[in-house]
Amino acid sequence: MHNAAFGALGLDYAYLPFRVRREKLGEAVAGMRALNLRGLNVTIPHKVAVMPLLDEIDPLAGKIGAVNTIVNDEGWLRGYNTDAEGFLRVLLEAGISPEGKKVVVLGAGGASRAITFILLEKGARLTIINRQLRFDWAPPPVKLMELNEASLATALGEADILVNATSVGMSPHDAFSPVPAGMLRAGLVVYDIVYNPLHTRLLKEAEAAGARVIAGLDMLVGQGALAFEKWTGQAAPAALMKRAALEALGL
Ligand code: ATR
Repeated sequence: MHNAAFGALGLDYAYLPFRVRREKLGEAVAGMRALNLRGLNVTIPHKVAVMPLLDEIDPLAGKIGAVNTIVNDEGWLRGYNTDAEGFLRVLLEAGISPEGKKVVVLGAGGASRAITFILLEKGARLTIINRQLRFDWAPPPVKLMELNEASLATALGEADILVNATSVGMSPHDAFSPVPAGMLRAGLVVYDIVYNPLHTRLLKEAEAAGARVIAGLDMLVGQGALAFEKWTGQAAPAALMKRAALEALGL
């Protein structure tokens, strides 16, 4: 999606994948400085370990404790978390402001953490539901519950927005949904961060129940669009990037 966007805007950049071993992360970042690369995306398993290697961490990325985007300004490396901002951007573009909304986030992994912090920053009222109780990082106003039918029913009964930030429903386990279909209803916004398949069982059942749905590919494109803007200083052609992402995924 980045190369498609560079091409469309006539920008002289190329986006390339590099597989970096854990023990080579320091050398990879030194290489970024030496080669004067403008930017990098960082993914699993390096999102946390890369932080001390940078010169500056954006405050939101610092709170989240993970960086997925690096911008190199003449040797000064700044780390951002566009997963979180991309999630928010898509919500806002759909005309949904999280302020004052009751949001239920399923999952407590890395993705959940990014989403949770930005939602809190924007004034959402949060409940996090997870299979295991591993919530050492969740700040106090957040309600925490263990995943079961009773907690889902209680939390979803009064929710405005449901976010699936677990991997449940992801291919090849696309026959599963984290939420019983009977708990989905009109008036609920259902945002699934899983993007493979494009329309997860959760999203299909939510749509059938009359809920508004947001697909995970939009978040993927949203984080990419933000990174693109940080690197190039130009507005990202998000629709074109989405088409390119769909094509790359063979969808
Ligand atoms: P990511 O970086 O994508 O968030 P992660 O940190 O491995 O990945 O987190 C995966 C999330 O999916 C976790 O919340 C995990 O729940 P646990 O903390 O209890 O492991 C959740 N998850 C994965 N498989 C699940 C399943 N079958 N049922 C419920 N939750 C599941």
